Amino acid sequence: MAQNPSLPDITQRILDWFALHGRKHLPWQQDKTPYRVWISEIMLQQTQVSTVIPYYERFMTRFPDIADLAAAPQDEVLHLWTGLGYYARARNLHNAAKKVVAEYNGEFPDNFDDVVALPGIGRSTAGAILSLSLNQPLAILDGNVKRVLARYYAIAGWPGEKATENQLWQYAEQNTPQEQVASYNQAMMDMGATLCTRSKPNCTECPIAQQCVAHEQQNYAAYPGKKPKKAIPVKTAQFVLFRQHNRILMEQRPPAGIWGGLWCFLEANEQTPEQLAQQQGLNIVSRTDLESFRHTFSHFHLDISATLYDVQSPRFIDSATFQVEESKQIWFDLANPPKIGLAAATKKLFDQLSLVTT
Ligand code: ADE
Repeated sequence: MAQNPSLPDITQRILDWFALHGRKHLPWQQDKTPYRVWISEIMLQQTQVSTVIPYYERFMTRFPDIADLAAAPQDEVLHLWTGLGYYARARNLHNAAKKVVAEYNGEFPDNFDDVVALPGIGRSTAGAILSLSLNQPLAILDGNVKRVLARYYAIAGWPGEKATENQLWQYAEQNTPQEQVASYNQAMMDMGATLCTRSKPNCTECPIAQQCVAHEQQNYAAYPGKKPKKAIPVKTAQFVLFRQHNRILMEQRPPAGIWGGLWCFLEANEQTPEQLAQQQGLNIVSRTDLESFRHTFSHFHLDISATLYDVQSPRFIDSATFQVEESKQIWFDLANPPKIGLAAATKKLFDQLSLVTT
């Protein structure tokens, strides 16, 4: 590529590298619109490209545009998110779509201040959406870009600290070109994901290794600085699975807290499983302990134990109608699962159930 004298040297090298090695065939790079790029950027937060691709394609097939997303029931949005984790992302996405329909006539806004005001969109994500889809000259600073810049400039602080983050933003702004921004930003993310990896960076292929301070020091592991270590606490949860005619009693969790809005089993906290059964008007016929396991969230471990109770109800609702939108409880039909959001841990328990004979 011809040299453009107005660009910092590092920027030109990164653009040249992108032309040869950057990723250009990801699903969200085709038919680029702010809506399509937005959904991909949210899914890609904390989640790898290979995991995201099938989720992205299902999501786009079901919600080809923002009006489809805004009009959908929250349960269905969460259903399409089942297994991706960090479910607040899906709830924010849904709320943001409703806001775009209500306030912007269904057109995703094209200026930074409006975009960054939408739920779940921070400075870097707003920059990514507008630069990747519309080539607006905005810098980005996601985890991959932070790693590249922290190594190149040997910034030793932890990027979770405001001062370090501000310093990284300054470098990001300084190097971001006015033109070819989509290519430049995608290149920075690709370099972070494929060359400047956390544990085994491939510096021989890196277009900016020659001036990279961490490379010169042979000390890439020192950058970016690590978060001060704090042991994460262990919590416990005891799930109670009431089963009747191949249906499991489930309830929707409150919107805030872990698994907000997702459907889960009843939980024995203050009440024993027997008390819960009585409250639901159920008679316990037999019990089977399921295998315990640990599920780790970003800020705590959850040790999960679960017991399956086969129950009978004197007034069993034969047709077991699901009032998903109106009721907080359902009898989840294992033979005909409804389209609702489930946490990965809930799915894991369902998988165990298929191994338990009646
Ligand atoms: N991670 C976040 N955004 C990305 C993108 N556009 N391409 C690849 N990985 C990403």
